[in-house]
Amino acid sequence: MTRPVQLTERINRIGPSATMAAVAEAEKLRQAGIDVVDMTAGEPHFTTPEHIKEAAIAAIRGNFSKYTAVGGTTELKDAIIQRHSTDFGSAYKREETCASVGGKHALFNVISVLVDHGDEVILPVPYWVSFKDMVRYAGGHCVLVKADESQGFRVTAQMVARLITPKTKLIILNSPSNPSGAVMSPEDMTEVVRLAQERGIWVISDECYVYLNYTDKNFSVGSLNEYRDRFLVVGSLSKTYAMTGWRLGFTLGPAEVLSAVQKLQSQQTTNPTSFVQKAAVAALSSSQQCVADMRAEYITLRDHIVGGLRAIPGIKCTMPEGAFYAYPNVSWFFGKSGIKCSADVAHGLLHTAHVATVAGEGFGTNEHVRISYATSMQNIDKALERMRKYFSEL
Ligand SMILES: Cc1ncc(COP(=O)(O)O)c(C=O)c1O
Repeated sequence: MTRPVQLTERINRIGPSATMAAVAEAEKLRQAGIDVVDMTAGEPHFTTPEHIKEAAIAAIRGNFSKYTAVGGTTELKDAIIQRHSTDFGSAYKREETCASVGGKHALFNVISVLVDHGDEVILPVPYWVSFKDMVRYAGGHCVLVKADESQGFRVTAQMVARLITPKTKLIILNSPSNPSGAVMSPEDMTEVVRLAQERGIWVISDECYVYLNYTDKNFSVGSLNEYRDRFLVVGSLSKTYAMTGWRLGFTLGPAEVLSAVQKLQSQQTTNPTSFVQKAAVAALSSSQQCVADMRAEYITLRDHIVGGLRAIPGIKCTMPEGAFYAYPNVSWFFGKSGIKCSADVAHGLLHTAHVATVAGEGFGTNEHVRISYATSMQNIDKALERMRKYFSEL
């Protein structure tokens, strides 16, 4: 007789990633021979720039294949610090820096060392799927701040301030945002970290899309040296340099927290892959033209898809100011052909129109679908055409 598997209460607190589930469902259809236009991608459609690949190949050939220091080589830490200082005017030291196996790993580690049982964590909605589960896994409880769609989902300091209680331990910011593409103003970000310092709260600023900010005010909280003892910046090379599979992210913040992060990392992954660190140094230290080129292309794709979505009767779509997602409101179709929520829309789009999107429910809203425009113009046109037909027939 087989015994039921008894898993921990901890693992039962979290669910699988909604975006990964959408990707898997689209893949099932593709395996069945259906031509699916995939708009679920949480990653650039570009390939990793050649000079970065060459650096990794040289590192492998040069046998750079041993363990390194847990938080990355000093060469990599210096490259992270220098890049951030040049771009945002920050001033971090090596002991305030840790390289991890992707931004997700960095976030998981920081949340694990800061959030305890019963702690409240303020999280803007819509949120990136993993924040809520990471907080829950750590034993915390998310207090959600609903961003105003009519204001482009921009989060303000005032919205956050209203939810601070004596139990608040942490505020999570993500600008530019996945999934809405909203960008917080530098003034609001500054006010949030000022408030955090005043009230003894932590801020994690997830800046994985910071180089895909399409406003003329690119900003990192890392530049706010006067409040630096209360916030952590999490960055990633994934989106910036089209390196999602390489897995290289980092945290910048107070040495005491970074030391705890490295202690945790020393008991799990140890260092990020050695030769990926060499590639990361090449990415961060050489010309940033590739980043500018990709950013310019994303702006063209964004303008095209948002224009196309807005031209579909019934769809409302805010203009994303960063990242590579459109987050259209599809609630006009609720009540038509049995559709009740955005999960039904995403299901219909996939199974009838053969366009894969991610339903808003995973991001905390049920009136939207997330559409990634990190794909070719040809794919965008194909998806728009299929969506136009699908919605017109509801
Ligand atoms: C908002 C946000 N933060 C962090 C990550 C993690 O990225 P990575 O682990 O590839 O660095 C992602 C990836 O999709 C993201 O969208």
